[in-house]
Amino acid sequence: MSAKATYLRLGVNIDHVATIRNARGGRHPDPLRAARQAAQAGADGITAHLREDRRHISDHDIDRLVDEIDLPLNLEMAATPEMLAIALRHKPHAACIVPEKRTEVTTEGGLDAARLRDDLRRYTQELGAAGIRVSLFIEPDIRQLEAAVALGAPVVELHTGAYCEAEGAERDRHLARLVTAAEQAAQLGLECHAGHGLTFDSVGPVAAIPSLHELNIGHFLIGEAIFSGLDSAIKRMRSLMDKARAEAMGERSA
Ligand code: PXP
Repeated sequence: MSAKATYLRLGVNIDHVATIRNARGGRHPDPLRAARQAAQAGADGITAHLREDRRHISDHDIDRLVDEIDLPLNLEMAATPEMLAIALRHKPHAACIVPEKRTEVTTEGGLDAARLRDDLRRYTQELGAAGIRVSLFIEPDIRQLEAAVALGAPVVELHTGAYCEAEGAERDRHLARLVTAAEQAAQLGLECHAGHGLTFDSVGPVAAIPSLHELNIGHFLIGEAIFSGLDSAIKRMRSLMDKARAEAMGERSA
């Protein structure tokens, strides 16, 4: 799907509910409860990253998300044989292949799909053949988009981390890269998503990019939930996305 999207989907990443749970062990707070609340608050999908070191989401969480949650599950995974087997067993709606380093606090940059093309091919092919919508988490860069096409991945997710961390003119420069890459993705026939580090303050200009179909947001929403509740945090994010998209569409048709 490469057409401009009028509706921008929101995938809520629940990893950090599991981070808090794991800080003490036990079952509280339960990521499944967060997923159910996210569904009620208007999330269009649930995203969860099963890391190799299982630092937050566990295998049991994935079993339960697949069995008990009706929203589409976007499983973030490293390109490893273990994760491929888990994805093929569960057949989530989507699998987003991310780079993973054990020592990183979060996914620091995009997957270098251009360099890793030969290594990734098996993953995109096997996931795709199983009917799983494959996405590659990449930097906004034409070389990475072309690699996604060559690998037969129907979806890319643009890493918004650098944009979110920058300020002033530097932020504008990163936003321009995202705008260009989203447009190039659409021209190449890729469905384009974006995410990482998005907040109430940074989401608007990204949501306004017309060829984006989905945003995946986690850490900020879970943090904000401490102060205002998850339902309110998701609803506010949803409304900021809708407002930015509506304004951008209005400007283009005016
Ligand atoms: N998209 C991808 C591919 C990610 O790896 C992450 C972080 O797990 C996110 C989106 C969400 O990022 P954040 O938690 O900073 O909102």
